[in-house]
Amino acid sequence: MTRFRIAIDGPSGAGKSTVARQVAQRLGYLYIDTGAMYRAVGLKVTREQLAWDQTDAIVEAARRAQIELKTGPRGLRVFLDGVDVSEVIRTETAGQAASRVSSIPGVRKILVQAQQELGKRGRVVMEGRDIGTKVFPEAELKVFLDASESTRARRRFTQNRNKREALNLGSILEEIRQRDRRDRERTDSPLVQARDALYLETSNQTVDEVVEKILKMVGLVEGKSGSG
Ligand code: DC
Repeated sequence: MTRFRIAIDGPSGAGKSTVARQVAQRLGYLYIDTGAMYRAVGLKVTREQLAWDQTDAIVEAARRAQIELKTGPRGLRVFLDGVDVSEVIRTETAGQAASRVSSIPGVRKILVQAQQELGKRGRVVMEGRDIGTKVFPEAELKVFLDASESTRARRRFTQNRNKREALNLGSILEEIRQRDRRDRERTDSPLVQARDALYLETSNQTVDEVVEKILKMVGLVEGKSGSG
């Protein structure tokens, strides 16, 4: 099936990036991390020292932002206005900024359009919060990845351990709670599971197990469509 699109949604720290990247690699599909796009806009807004209530200026900054995702030997690289920002956008501060800008409908509209354009040819694994509900409601396969709060905090903690901004487990848990609340309670495209998404609770599963389950689903869906 040439237009096959896989939507992977879920809260932060559920393992979306690791899983989505591996699924894409195994299938030879394009991998798109939409959170990176919100993070890039968040970074731009922070750098331009805009206040969070300056919504019009923030939307304008999102419109001006040149965001590129490039997959190369060092994995996915994210460029903002021609500069590689792959590392700076990964801090918890950038995550919070992303979560804030992502609650602004005008920002979402710009990024959702860009995401639909990037994925329109199919053979794509796209991860985020609203891929199965908004970006590609007709995706051939939708997965909702979840894990307990404490598992997600622990994963973030391990991931961030070597970073300059390393936080302790308690602060990470608090950040995750705050970000989840904002992502789930916003009015425009809140984080919810699409009705037709496959729900996977990953607290007690390895990355490999989750990846294998998704690949199996891809096989089943492709088989059912009869177009291989
Ligand atoms: O997946 P992530 O942690 O990199 O995402 C950062 C923030 O961006 C997240 O808190 C919510 C927002 N986001 C969103 O609203 N919609 C998406 N499709 C992806 C991310």
